Amino acid sequence: MTEDWASRALPAPPITPLRWRGGWRDGALELLDQTRLPRDETWLTHRAYTTVVDDIVRLAVRGAPVIGIAGAYALVLAAREVTLAEPAIDVPTFFERLTPRAERIATARPTAVNLGAAVRAGLRAARACPGGNPEQITDVLLEAAMHLDAYEREACEGIARHGAAWLDGRTRFLTHCNAGALVTTGLGTALAPLYALHAAGREIQVYADETRPLLQGLRLTAYELARGGVPVQVIADGAAAGLIAEGHVDAVIVGADRVSASGDVANKVGTYGLALAADRHGIPFVVAAPLTTIDRGTVAGADIPIEQRPDDVGRYVDPACLPSGLETWAPAFDRTPAALVSALVTERGVVERPDATRIETLFATAP
Ligand code: MRU
Repeated sequence: MTEDWASRALPAPPITPLRWRGGWRDGALELLDQTRLPRDETWLTHRAYTTVVDDIVRLAVRGAPVIGIAGAYALVLAAREVTLAEPAIDVPTFFERLTPRAERIATARPTAVNLGAAVRAGLRAARACPGGNPEQITDVLLEAAMHLDAYEREACEGIARHGAAWLDGRTRFLTHCNAGALVTTGLGTALAPLYALHAAGREIQVYADETRPLLQGLRLTAYELARGGVPVQVIADGAAAGLIAEGHVDAVIVGADRVSASGDVANKVGTYGLALAADRHGIPFVVAAPLTTIDRGTVAGADIPIEQRPDDVGRYVDPACLPSGLETWAPAFDRTPAALVSALVTERGVVERPDATRIETLFATAP
């Protein structure tokens, strides 16, 4: 069936993880506490940047695009704190006060490029504020955060359309971790094309890896796909290679926390194994990510810092099962070489077999 994916209506996101309410002076950032999903939907209201940082660290808000957006709004809260504490402050002193706060936000988690990049972009906009005073600069920071929020929402639509066009005809998909509506302000990254295919009447089936140790697949992907009406079955991570080998999967599709300039991909730990299995059994391994997740300043995957979360290994395990003095090696992410990536789906189009040259064409393409 030929489908005009460029103009087809897309479904609304089944859930949203973040919203800002108000102006810079009185506003607050609201975050859906993802650590409590799917048990309940609790919204947390933040008026201080420090509590946003805490929530990024404990994964109440998580996923590359949305931690970038949360970081941009946290910078507004940090700037407001400085502005309201010392209303008569001059601009150089304002930046002196803001910089360490910005640094604290930017470094809350190291792997997803979106967080540091969003904070740096906010600071650039703030420094370019013509003849600004602290109040005007804080307002400019809010504009920058809202712009990023809207950009990411629209990027999901592009990813949904380009990804659906590329994947159409395949029906059984395996995904890892959660790269859906909960990681951004729109339909998601890896899940966006799947929502589009489902909305277009394709009878798709999604297998979601449970995603040890924090179970983002079991808790979050299964939850949001079910809310969106998309058929989903959760599998133990260890079942994925066998499922692929036995011919039950037409494509693996995952998101990314950072894509290097050469196309290597850092994503949730376990992704690399899926890429190897897909390659071995001749099915596509697809990565879906907005351009904000491509880090042209990081040459290769080996240069991407990998967050270690040693305490997470036992987090969802009955304490009675944990040996005393348990030691863990617990990277939150792994690196998949570009050579194993069949296609990189972005809001500007799909790049097959991504490499440095092909990735650059995305940035040269008019939006
Ligand atoms: O540690 P998390 O839950 O923030 O990790 C998120 C992931 O790794 C996702 O799988 C993802 O693809 C990146 S966000 C689109």
